[in-house]
Amino acid sequence: MTSLLFTPMDLGGLTLANRVVVAPMCQYSARDGNFSDWHLMHLGQFAVSGVGLVITEATAVLPEGRISPYCPGLWCDENEAALARVVNFCSAYGNVKLGLQLAHAGRKGSSRAPWTGPGPVPEGEGGWRTVAPSPLAFDDGWPAPAELDAGGMDRLLDGWAGAAKRAARLDVDSVEVHSAHGYLLHQFLSPLTNRRGDEYGGALENRMRFPLAVFDAVRQAFPKARPVGIRVSASDWIDGGWDVEQTAAFAAELEKRGCAYLHVSSGGAAPQQKVITGPGYQVDFARRLKARTAMPVIAVGEITEPAQAETILRGGAADLIALARGMLFDPHWTWRAAAALGCQAPYPPQYERALGAIQGPDGGMRTPDEPPTMKG
Ligand SMILES: Cc1cc2nc3c(=O)[nH]c(=O)nc-3n(C[C@H](O)[C@H](O)[C@H](O)COP(=O)(O)O)c2cc1C
Repeated sequence: MTSLLFTPMDLGGLTLANRVVVAPMCQYSARDGNFSDWHLMHLGQFAVSGVGLVITEATAVLPEGRISPYCPGLWCDENEAALARVVNFCSAYGNVKLGLQLAHAGRKGSSRAPWTGPGPVPEGEGGWRTVAPSPLAFDDGWPAPAELDAGGMDRLLDGWAGAAKRAARLDVDSVEVHSAHGYLLHQFLSPLTNRRGDEYGGALENRMRFPLAVFDAVRQAFPKARPVGIRVSASDWIDGGWDVEQTAAFAAELEKRGCAYLHVSSGGAAPQQKVITGPGYQVDFARRLKARTAMPVIAVGEITEPAQAETILRGGAADLIALARGMLFDPHWTWRAAAALGCQAPYPPQYERALGAIQGPDGGMRTPDEPPTMKG
């Protein structure tokens, strides 16, 4: 039986070699929003790793949309040139498709890098005044964001569209709109963070209005032939918060607007969340949403084993599998998974001799007593 994980697939017009995805991962290694040498290494290693799709970390559409002062962005020519260096490496040497995650952090912006401790970076120390749908601080010790007005929302829409146009110029294969993890668009969606009394708050239809306008702006600015997908939190893990039912309604609206996929994560809206983690802890959200949408669904979250990934796909819970921490631990996860499932993933020619090191002649995992290919 052939592996589903290693069956190519069409994602909104983009042909992926397999269904393995590198999930977006902030690296806190940019300066002034510019992707750096670190990103060249980080994304470069995944670009030659044989996965179907690599998605960049959250890339801010405006300076104040960065999660931290060290996060990348795509709001100016200098940012575009810095990202071009990374994209050019990936297209010259890579064997994957490259997606860009576009984001705005809203009230969770101006944060410290995780390794310098939790909490906000104050204004005047490299931080900035954040914006959000409602002037509610993320937690004790965090400043209240400024409430967005009509002018602020217009500026944001221009920011999203401008960044998507730059992504199009850079020949990025796809764009993912970050609407998860308690960042700006999720702040509009969740009744816990959106307390507006105007047409952008209250009823679900109103809370979805701005995120859908952002999706439309991005979809319009990015070439039709290339997919725009979305990442959602399927649950706030807090009673009275955003949940699977509301996510399904959001997905239905996105589907009508030509959204290419639904990347199903969870949490992040507020510190009161009670997330129950464990192997595949978000797969059930993916399964429930896949039953409600025709869009391809990406499952993510503590999926670490090839057989686990294959079982999720075979069980019909998702169409693609994303890994984050597992990929940091083993950037060659895809090659190992292919060997374990009796398949082959793309190798760059420079590394082809690694193939014989773990794969037997039939393409399956080499037995310990079988010698690796050592020719040449
Ligand atoms: C270092 C790190 C940075 C992350 N940065 C982002 C990000 O920029 N955007 C995003 O949507 N999720 C981000 N995430 C969440 C991951 O994409 C993923 O959803 C989460 O880690 C669960 O998958 P895993 O169990 O395979 O790690 C990050 C996770 C890690 C570990």
